[in-house]
Amino acid sequence: MNGAEVVRAYHSATIHGGDHDRSRLVRFRPLDPTNRPAPFKVYPDYPFTPLDDDDPLGRLLFYSLGVTRVSGSSYFRAAMSAGNLHPVEAYAVADDDFVAHYHPLQHGLTTLHEEDGDGHRAWIAVVLTGIPWRTAWKYGERGWRHLWWDSGAVVANMLALSDDVSVSLDFDDDAVNRLVGVDGTSEFALAVVHLVDEELPGAETHVTTPALSRNPIEFPLVTEIQNGTRQHHGHLRAYRGGKRPQLRGQAIEDLILRRGSTRLFRHETVPEASLKDPVDVATDGAPLLEHLIAVHAVEGWPAAPRAVTQHLCYDQPLGGDSAYTVFHSADLEKVLADVGPRGYRAALFEAGMAAERLELAAFSLGLGATGLTFYDDEVKEVFDTDAACMLVTAVGVPDYRSRPGGAPRKPTQLHGFDALMGRLQMRMLAGRNTTPGQ
Ligand SMILES: Cc1cc2nc3c(=O)[nH]c(=O)nc-3n(C[C@H](O)[C@H](O)[C@H](O)COP(=O)(O)O)c2cc1C
Repeated sequence: MNGAEVVRAYHSATIHGGDHDRSRLVRFRPLDPTNRPAPFKVYPDYPFTPLDDDDPLGRLLFYSLGVTRVSGSSYFRAAMSAGNLHPVEAYAVADDDFVAHYHPLQHGLTTLHEEDGDGHRAWIAVVLTGIPWRTAWKYGERGWRHLWWDSGAVVANMLALSDDVSVSLDFDDDAVNRLVGVDGTSEFALAVVHLVDEELPGAETHVTTPALSRNPIEFPLVTEIQNGTRQHHGHLRAYRGGKRPQLRGQAIEDLILRRGSTRLFRHETVPEASLKDPVDVATDGAPLLEHLIAVHAVEGWPAAPRAVTQHLCYDQPLGGDSAYTVFHSADLEKVLADVGPRGYRAALFEAGMAAERLELAAFSLGLGATGLTFYDDEVKEVFDTDAACMLVTAVGVPDYRSRPGGAPRKPTQLHGFDALMGRLQMRMLAGRNTTPGQ
């Protein structure tokens, strides 16, 4: 199969709902608690250095990947993540071939590669990688899509924090994997966040780390799609900071700490600016996407039936309870023709970036938002489009206020989270009883 055929086969096999060839999916027991991947990667044999509070690299890493809230053994971070599984890891790279791994809870760097130098060191890039087992443990092969969504969300925060960074998905996979010491199968490079205009060093890092769980499962289709989209052809443009959420005097760091995916919406109408401004921010700088919107309660806009949108969002009430729900979509045949198979990675990444931008922009206006999964084919049918849905974001009036996240190494302890999830569960059960048209 060529790259385009691999993309079509993978996309079709990992569609939610509908009649598709799923014969190549691994049959496994999802959510086996005894085989759950560890949330943090550790390197017991390598030196760890905490980052100082005023370190600019630490600021960029913490407000995009750091742990900001904790509830029991659940760690919530600065950017949203499907299923709160956080498969994205970060490695800082300096001009003297220094490579270090970022620990999101301990807020520090583990030195993985160092060469004798003149003592001067300047950071040049952050490499983001993805660990497919972290998401595949719950979602199977569809988990590969999550790596790109989640890295897009991380990058959205980075671009909101700094005008200086530019982000590339177009690089030599093997060289970047070797640089940060990952094998290209159980973990692989997703994005290079350039901090300055300088090439990555050609160094190689050799490290060993403990397995993430008792028996990590490899999914052949994930390896196939990762390899099938690897062709490096220079057609993808770099991502830079674009339109920003309105901060109204608050710091971007405070907005990020206030963000948290909304679990319950109230059925309230919002002014038109609450749609236009956030959608403007979210859609900027994502050239492969188009954005289809189901409007439920926005002043001056006709209302779409909430029950239909709820169904499209995998029957989750949040999709229909919102003021509006945005379906970030891409015409995959056009993407393949224009930029090749690597463009599939980019379209998913852009959707994650758009979702996080939309969430931040919604929070800046006092609204709430959440990413949502979806029934792929039915979204196409309802919107009568050839574009494939890449991700969904629902925006609306939250039914509660979430507690802001905490500073590095001081995450906010959430005490009412289980009660909130209980209310979400009740809403899910009540939602099943609603009939289309309501
Ligand atoms: C790609 C993506 C898909 C998501 N899908 C859903 C979903 O289908 N249903 C849901 O309730 N939340 C969904 N979320 C929100 C996550 O559950 C949420 O980000 C995660 O639990 C972490 O919580 P936080 O965003 O409050 O930090 C999704 C988030 C992302 C990034």
